[in-house]
Order: sequence, then C-alpha cells, then structure tokens
Amino acid sequence: MSLDFVAVKGKLGDQKAECIVASAMEAKLSPEAQHLDRVLNGEISSSIKRKEFEGKAGTIMGVRTLGRLAARKILVVGLGPAKEYDQFVSRNAAALAFQSVKNDCESIAFKVSLGDLAYSVESIIVSSYDYQEWKTQEKKPLKAKRAVFVFDSESEVRKAREIIAFAKTVGEGQNYSRELDNVHAGLATPAYIAGHAKKIAGGKVKVTVWGMKELEKKGYGGVIGVGKGSVNEPKFVVMEYNGGRKGEKPYAIVGKGVCFDSGGISIKPSRGMGLMRYDKSGACTVIATIRTLKQLNLPVNVVAVAPLVENLPSGSAYKPGDVIKTGSGKTIEVTNTDAEGRVILSDGLYHANLFKPKGIIDLATLTGACVVALGTHCSGLMTNNDALAAKVKKAAQASGERVWELPMWKEYEELVKSDVADVKNADESPDAGATEGGWFLREFVGETPWVHLDTAGTAWVEKPTIPIRTGATGWGVRLLIEFFKSEAGH
Ligand code: BES
Ligand code: ZN
Ligand code: ZN
Repeated sequence: MSLDFVAVKGKLGDQKAECIVASAMEAKLSPEAQHLDRVLNGEISSSIKRKEFEGKAGTIMGVRTLGRLAARKILVVGLGPAKEYDQFVSRNAAALAFQSVKNDCESIAFKVSLGDLAYSVESIIVSSYDYQEWKTQEKKPLKAKRAVFVFDSESEVRKAREIIAFAKTVGEGQNYSRELDNVHAGLATPAYIAGHAKKIAGGKVKVTVWGMKELEKKGYGGVIGVGKGSVNEPKFVVMEYNGGRKGEKPYAIVGKGVCFDSGGISIKPSRGMGLMRYDKSGACTVIATIRTLKQLNLPVNVVAVAPLVENLPSGSAYKPGDVIKTGSGKTIEVTNTDAEGRVILSDGLYHANLFKPKGIIDLATLTGACVVALGTHCSGLMTNNDALAAKVKKAAQASGERVWELPMWKEYEELVKSDVADVKNADESPDAGATEGGWFLREFVGETPWVHLDTAGTAWVEKPTIPIRTGATGWGVRLLIEFFKSEAGH
C-alpha cells in the first residue's frame, strides 16, 4: 500500500491536510475539537446540542470548513463515554475516520496520543485492505496518500516516528496473512502457500519445504494420512528466523494449514463448506509472522512449522477406522476424518519439538465447538504451562487479539482415549469439543511449555466489523509480534 504515515509538530487546526480528524467523548469535545469549534463559530457544539451527533463510539460527523481553515473538511469521531474508552474504541475510531474520507481526500490529519498511535496506524492499514482480487471491474486506486499525526513537541515527533514504523510493519504483516488466507482453494494449494513461504527465505530466514517423498522418509503419517486424499500433494513448511543470539533456543510457532477442509470421507454438509478455505489461516499467520519478524529485525530466534494439506474424499483418502502411525511413533485411531487438523498437527508439533524450543505456540482453526463456546471476539487458549500462558495472555491484551482460557484438567484425557491405538482423533460425544482438540494436541508436545490457540471463531469475518469488511482477519500476527517483542525486551 502506498499510504504515507508522517508525524509532525504543530496544531491540528493549522494542518494543510484536506481533512482533519478531531474527536469527542460523548458531548465532551477534545481540546483540539473545542478549538476547531470556535473557528467554525460553534457548528460542532450546536450539532451536539441538537443531538445530531452525540459522540457515541462508532459514529462520525463531517463538517465543511468553507474557507475558515486550511483544511476542506473536519471529521469529528465519537469515542463514547470516557470510562469505556479502550484500544478497541481507539482502533475503530481511526479506521472509521479513514474509511469515510479515503476516496475523497488525499491527506488526512489526526491528533492522537502517543499511546494510541500504534492502534491508529495498524487499524488504518488493516481497514484499508480489502480482497477484491477477483472483481474484474477495475479497482479505483485509493485517493488517500498521506496520514499526518500532529504532536506538540519534537521529542514526541521522534518517538512517534519509531512507533509508526513498527506499527506499519505489523499492520502490513497482518494484511499479508489475510492476503494468503483469502485466496480460494482452487488456487491456494499446499504448493502455492509453500511457494509464498519460500519467497521469504534469505538473510536471517531459512525455509525448508518437504513434499510427499520426504514426509514418507520421516514417517510423518499424520500429514500423509490427511494429505493423500488429494491429487495436490501435502507440503511441510519449516521456517527458521535467526534474529537472536547464536545457540539461543528458539520459540516454535505451529500453524494448521488445511488448504481446504471438506471433512474428507466424514464429509461436511455443503452449506458453508466453501468457507473451509480459511482452514489454512494458522499456517498463513505463522508464515506472515516470520516475514514480519524479519522486517522488524527483532532479536529473537523463532521456528515456524506449517503442515499444508487438502482434506478431500477420494479413492485414496484416509478413512474412519484407519490407524495412523505419526512421526513421533504414537498411533492415532481415526474415528472422524473431519478432525483432520489435530492429525496433521501431531507431526507439526513433534517436528517443532525437535528444535528443543523454549515453548511452542500453535494456531489452528481447530473446532466449531470453540466458536459455539466463545463466538468471534476471542480465540480459545489451552495450555500445559501457566507461565507461558500468562505471557501469551499479556501479549493478547496488549495487541487487542483477545484469548480466553478453556480448562485442561486431566479428567478430559478420556475424550482422546482409544481402544485400538494410543489416541483417537475424535469422541462420539460433542461435549467439550474445543478441549478435546486441545487434549489431543497435548499428547504430542511432551513436557515442552505449550499454548494452543483455537482460532476457528477469530480467523474469518462474516459479519462486517469496522476494521475488516469480510474475509480473513490475519488473527495472531499482532499477538505473536507483541509476544516476541516483549521476549526481545523491547
Ligand atoms: N476446520 C474444522 C473446524 C472449524 C469449524 C473451523 C468451523 C472453522 C469454522 C475442523 O477441522 C473440524 O471439522 N472440526 C470438527 C471436529 C469434530 C469432527 C470432532 C468440528 O468442529 O466439528
Ligand atoms: Zn475438519
Ligand atoms: Zn479443519
């Protein structure tokens, strides 16, 4: 995206930007908005008196300046009541303001605090991305070219420039995950996604991609089992980012990469099946995270593992009742071919463990049950290690990519016990479906600290939100970068 973000010292009202954005917390205008109101002979406050604009969160009012200011237009965004103000209000306000004028104004000036700056920048970038690849009508290029942030002092401007550079990279990283994930399954085969991962190689990033031959040599029966039902062979992507000290143990991030999940022989109902092209979003997010770490040059070592398959019914597909031997040596009874994510992740997690990581974080659109339990506003978190979970929760809080912990008491182990193999991939009963998936994965991480994030509810938007109209959300890039930033001591 060719949008420039700049920080300048000055007053909001003096900006030559075509549009300037001020704010109001309910009826209380910000100091800048008060100043603008005076210049505009009370036009803003009288709209508030007439209740045309009440400063509610998610609302916005445009005022023409008619030559009274250098700017052509003023937007006043509502921030709602002060006591409810948080990063989500802040992110939505920036996105809403930008969306309202992006096709109308070339430059837009904002006044936000240093604390809100990263939210604004990320949100403007994320909200500007819309997947229109397959609309043959020519896309209109964005009219907006510049977002200007105004500060009182030079020292704030300097700090702001650092924040902008970082936040811009993170926002673009999130969009990169979305860009991969949005591609439909007709095009986005395992080889396609692996090809994009390969492009990130170079410098501090090493990328290895295995196909069927190598998987067979390693005995990664989980990936093979699910992948063999498709003519498009599975790929196993490993990306090593060595930004930290040599010899320092890495963290591992593992992403579910089911490029299409039809359910396999245990086929899903056709209604909504097309959505299962986003069953690869965990993989897209770990790939995008490595790309972003490289761009930010963060001093950490991170290995990303992404098993990529298509789960299809065919003459060569795995079947209910099959027993699979995984790379770890453990065997899986396949009771339901639609619980395929955990089957490929058994090998993904095993492989991640070979790097003797400090911890493993996996992201997977693993269960519909997680969406039933938590909806779309957070991912489910499951863990075998409270200390690592606490760090992930902190990163979730800071990044605005929220998580909610689901229990992992040992009583749940029952759900994955099998009569014929070491574990089974699904229980007859739908009870505790998200934890069942988590427990299954836990069997393959051993003693390594591990956090599982079930992103089935968060990785895709169907009901439009302010920053994201529809499609892949790139959920997890912001959380993971925040996690590694704090591990790097930044
Ligand atoms: N990819 C699905 C989970 C999913 C459902 C993701 C809805 C996003 C939205 C997963 O592979 C799956 O099919 N899980 C089954 C598990 C069951 C068979 C134990 C499910 O959730 O029904
Ligand atoms: Zn499935
Ligand atoms: Zn799936």
